[in-house]
Amino acid sequence: MMENIIQRPRRNRKNQAVRDLVQETEVTVKDFIYPMFLVDGKNKTISIKSMPGIFRYSLDNLLREMELCMKLGIKSFVLFPNLEESLKDKEATESLNKKGLYLRAIKEVKKKLPEALIMTDVAMDPYSSDGHDGFVKNGEILNDVTLAILGKMALAQAEAGADIIGPSDMMDGRVGYIRKKLDKAGFENTSIISYTAKYASAFYGPFRDALDSAPKFGDKKTYQMNPSNSEEALLEAELDYAEGADILMVKPALAYLDVIRLLNENFPVPIAAYNVSGEYAMIKAAGKNGWIDETKAMNEVLLSIKRAGAKIILTYFAKEFALQRKNP
Ligand code: PBG
Repeated sequence: MMENIIQRPRRNRKNQAVRDLVQETEVTVKDFIYPMFLVDGKNKTISIKSMPGIFRYSLDNLLREMELCMKLGIKSFVLFPNLEESLKDKEATESLNKKGLYLRAIKEVKKKLPEALIMTDVAMDPYSSDGHDGFVKNGEILNDVTLAILGKMALAQAEAGADIIGPSDMMDGRVGYIRKKLDKAGFENTSIISYTAKYASAFYGPFRDALDSAPKFGDKKTYQMNPSNSEEALLEAELDYAEGADILMVKPALAYLDVIRLLNENFPVPIAAYNVSGEYAMIKAAGKNGWIDETKAMNEVLLSIKRAGAKIILTYFAKEFALQRKNP
């Protein structure tokens, strides 16, 4: 029996070749920034229980791993330091220590792997004895005091050789403050990727395990955004854009695909999305249990982020994706 159907969308799905022709979105390794964790010491590769396949590396091992990733086509990395509790204080002093783990690593990486693009993280939490992104006084996160600390931190990272500075703290006015501070010191070519719409999310859990950086009291709701709001993301984006951000980021990615699209439709700068630790952990956990096909789920999720409008994806899947493309 033949019905008279003029448009048959299935014709464009009839074989792999035609499916390839009409494919609208494609993820490539060029889209990725690979987040990596640093730890002090030598020859260390320490697994993170809630993030199978992701490790804390000492600098020597980090360099080796980065080189391998670059051979797979991954050129961009964001580094996060895991610091001993004894190095943490209220002012995040260790973030300015030129001989400290983070700044030394940035310098060394840029020297040994000049082609690698290094994004850094600007926020107080890895260095803060309070485990918060800002300066704490009487249980409150003080905005403008924090700006001064973040400005110095950003400048120290630029001096160490960072290509892109990533303020992840959500203080008001920090993009403009950092931009001015960098320009004044002659770092007008150091970029800023702003964590523009960063939500107070349950999906950061495994990352805080990786860095031992969970807040010591309270939560981050006075600075990170309420998951219910998207108009507010437009306001944050307007401010960051006006203050000089080169790239606007949405974080997390999967529960906020609408926000990615919203920013992409309204701003003429590239949009990035952070496919965060909890999003990674969910797929890994279900995969290990045999409940979903991990590789297929990874590909589908990355595709969804790009389809929503993200040009850049920060993802712990970067290496796995690249390996899969090399040996399908
Ligand atoms: C903190 C920061 C966080 C992440 C990146 N930078 C956690 C937080 O805000 O508590 C999370 C990344 C992830 O979950 O993968 N400045």
